[in-house]
Amino acid sequence: MIGSPTASRGAGCGVIPPARATARTESGNGEIGGHYCGPMKFDGFETLAIHAGQEPDAGTGSVVVPIYQTSTYAQDGVGGLRQGYEYSRTGNPTRAALEECLAALESGTRGLAFASGMAAEDTLLRTVLSPGDHIIIPGDAYGGTFRLVSKVVERWGVRWDAVDQSDPEAVRAAVRPETRVVWTETPTNPLLNITDIEAVAQIAHDAGALHVVDNTFASPYLQQPLTLGADVVVHSTTKYLGGHSDVVGGALVVSDAELGERLAFHQNTMGAIPGPFDSWLTLRGAKTLGVRMDRHSANAERVVAALEDHPAVRKVFYPGLEGHPGHKTAERQMRSFGGMVSFALRDGEKAALALCERTEVFTLGESLGGVESLIEHPGRMTHASTAGSTLEVPADLVRISVGIESADDLVADLLRALEG
Ligand SMILES: Cc1ncc(COP(=O)(O)O)c(C=O)c1O
Repeated sequence: MIGSPTASRGAGCGVIPPARATARTESGNGEIGGHYCGPMKFDGFETLAIHAGQEPDAGTGSVVVPIYQTSTYAQDGVGGLRQGYEYSRTGNPTRAALEECLAALESGTRGLAFASGMAAEDTLLRTVLSPGDHIIIPGDAYGGTFRLVSKVVERWGVRWDAVDQSDPEAVRAAVRPETRVVWTETPTNPLLNITDIEAVAQIAHDAGALHVVDNTFASPYLQQPLTLGADVVVHSTTKYLGGHSDVVGGALVVSDAELGERLAFHQNTMGAIPGPFDSWLTLRGAKTLGVRMDRHSANAERVVAALEDHPAVRKVFYPGLEGHPGHKTAERQMRSFGGMVSFALRDGEKAALALCERTEVFTLGESLGGVESLIEHPGRMTHASTAGSTLEVPADLVRISVGIESADDLVADLLRALEG
């Protein structure tokens, strides 16, 4: 129960989500980030995850946002739109509910949902970059981001540099007069490096650039980059936000309304939007983000403790470890340290590959952030596109996405697999 206003949330409270995610502020009902119903505003993270953009359906009382599986909408006379909907590439009520929820969870003013994380990235970069511009990406960026920038965006005349952002001064040193975007991932994929978001946002702004943070690994429950000064948050909602390995999606969230409008224009123009069912699955997953993240982090800490003591393990990469160079920054900007862990094996690549094939509870597969634990070899799998570049990942590295199964079983599975 969330208190007395729940009881007062009757038919009058339910609305079909309007066509634009900013409608809540446009209608003048207060600041962004709260869930309104009756006289009170609720803004606890879990309350927003379950209710933001998700009022009971006005017509039927359906507690869950319906899947509006439609491509178009009847108009009451030419131009007579109901709730602002005209065509589902431009807007769809199920997607609008997801977009409003995402904006609330990231403390932004506008959320935009996409067909994948890469579709979100592509739309963002084509919105804010022009030929001749320069972008700074992380020294160990997600392989897909690296591929997009180095193989696609570069062809359109955009220059880039990959910089280890664990030292903000290295970012400052890489800034050029044409730098328009500083792109941060924290924690990074797969080496779990940490960037001080506040410091890098300041450097980006001093340079007149936008600061973009890919928040996929942390999720908005653990870290909210917009509140630390970033301009755009990127998500692969395929991961923790969706949380159940059953849907591919992406998102952008911003605070600045004008930037939100430009992104919405490009979202509609390029059309890389998620369908209603995918939007619904992501929205359903997001409802439980908080409790899942608490368990992911707790389980990861158990697994890390077991790996740290193991003679076959050369090094564990986890920001929760006191010896991790970014530990203090992570402690300051994250609620807990998350479910992603990487580790290097003493016996090199062969041992890493063998381990990936020996676990039973940890499934060998790409992706991360689902309730089920996954294991992979970044060098041969998710980060194969970085081979031969400065972003190449160590061959002895294994990455695990620690799920929410019983911690004892996860530890036992890894220890048995490490024994060979
Ligand atoms: C950090 C990060 N950003 C972006 C993406 C791309 O997202 P998607 O696979 O949904 O296109 C991924 C995918 O693994 C990722 O790990």
